[in-house]
Amino acid sequence: MYKIHCLNNISKSGLETFPDHYKIVENIEQADALLVRSYKMHELDLPSSVLAIARAGAGVNNIPLERYANEGVVVFNTPGANANAVKELTLAGMLIASRHINLGLTWVSENKEDTDIQKSIEKAKKAFAGTEILGKTIGIIGLGAIGFKLAKSCAALGMNVLGYDRDLNVIKGEILPESMKIADSNEEIYASADFISLHLPLNDHTKHIIDKKVMQHMKDGVVLLNFSRDQLVNDDDLEDFLTSGKIKAYVTDFPNYKTANMEHVIAIPHLGASTAEAEENCAAMAAEEIKDYLELGIIRNS
Ligand code: MLT
Repeated sequence: MYKIHCLNNISKSGLETFPDHYKIVENIEQADALLVRSYKMHELDLPSSVLAIARAGAGVNNIPLERYANEGVVVFNTPGANANAVKELTLAGMLIASRHINLGLTWVSENKEDTDIQKSIEKAKKAFAGTEILGKTIGIIGLGAIGFKLAKSCAALGMNVLGYDRDLNVIKGEILPESMKIADSNEEIYASADFISLHLPLNDHTKHIIDKKVMQHMKDGVVLLNFSRDQLVNDDDLEDFLTSGKIKAYVTDFPNYKTANMEHVIAIPHLGASTAEAEENCAAMAAEEIKDYLELGIIRNS
């Protein structure tokens, strides 16, 4: 019997893909393998029984990879398993910003006692008039599973897509949508995109990749979308650019104390991968990886 301990709530139906000779245990000390979602593992000393960890998600910045590797523990992630969910929320973020949906919702809730709300709607229509995404350019930085799905959806919605990835092998063999071009560098994206969406892992190369040096080269009125990781953007540099309107809105799935108090920030509480489908896909892929490793020694997505 193999024993699995979950450090976070993991989709039940995903866990059901473990065969009968697997047991979910409450006590980490008994576990052969761990399943984790967002639990920050840096402070956690692993019991010697643990041989593998699977992250039900793409990012692994909540796991001390080097330390666990030195202890002989294999760490897996589940690339692509939640990509559609994150892509859909990114699209929603773009539409919320361009049509001021957040302001409209707040307005309705603030005016719900108004018995003559119809009369005030004319004012709201004027105040919250937006812009369309049709014909606009989205720059997508990072063309992995999420970034490339987003590129295809934006192209289908009539946008021009400019994509960049340091490793273009990630889209090898893919057919690019007609309205998509590969940029020569991120700089080309900064200079010409109306929307910029980040789809990068957080690591030493990408931390604060968006700082004031690059913000100043962005097109006036750009909308910046971050559904990847908080620290890709240097928050200390953001406020001035938001106040001046250089950056029209910062849409982030990672609210923090600083950005939550800034104007023109639209923050969502890390819901990118929070759909029933994505949670089930991630759990099922993670279960498969653990099973293959414990029983056959096969290592995938490590
Ligand atoms: C990811 O890295 O894929 C997401 O952060 C997953 C999650 O929301 O747990």
